[in-house]
Amino acid sequence: MPESLVVVIDGPAGAGKSTIAKLLARKLGVAFMDTGAMYRALTVKALREKVDLEDEAALVALAQRTHIDLVNEPGKALQVLLDGADVSEAIRSIEVTNNTFYIARTPGVRHVMVEWQRTMGARRSMVGDGRDLGTVVFPNATYKFYLDADFNVRCQRRIDELKAKGQQVDEEALKKDLAERDEHDFTRKVGPLKKADDAILVDSTGMTVAQVVEFLAGRIRNT
Ligand code: DC
Repeated sequence: MPESLVVVIDGPAGAGKSTIAKLLARKLGVAFMDTGAMYRALTVKALREKVDLEDEAALVALAQRTHIDLVNEPGKALQVLLDGADVSEAIRSIEVTNNTFYIARTPGVRHVMVEWQRTMGARRSMVGDGRDLGTVVFPNATYKFYLDADFNVRCQRRIDELKAKGQQVDEEALKKDLAERDEHDFTRKVGPLKKADDAILVDSTGMTVAQVVEFLAGRIRNT
């Protein structure tokens, strides 16, 4: 295995990227970098400070006075720290989920995020998941994957995930939200979701989580 291993998994919301990236990182014994969690954490701060989400300069200034950390501890879920405080749960609220696109569409904020992510990636071997890792953040990643799945399957996975947590789910609203997130991800002017030319396309529609992890690990072992 090369000295510093950078594996990236990009793809649309609900394709299972975070679940797969986390398990693959554990299997390879490297760190897990959830870049969506970073955009979400900054959104938490913007909402708390009531920053105008349409004001690019204000959002960039906010990013510049923020410190986001991802803490990987063996056997523990990834901890997301916003200026030192744990926001691992707060970043998953519906309000944050539905407002993160403001942060993600702002070019100056993406610039700051990309720098943070590169710095984290340079420190250690890792598996990262996001939208623009293979195209923008780590164009020279050791392995690039693009994880996709049918829209309805992605919706159903989200529904099952929320129900498993005991949450009530408005299925029609969830489908509408996911379609909107796709629209934002694919049409963003900077860092849109796009398969890198050299990324391996994995359609997880008919696959279990274990099968996807095994497939990715197999590609890594065999090259
Ligand atoms: O993967 P996720 O659903 O937690 O991502 C949250 C949001 O952040 C989503 O709106 C897409 C955006 N995002 C992004 O623009 N670039 C990334 N590298 C990761 C996430």
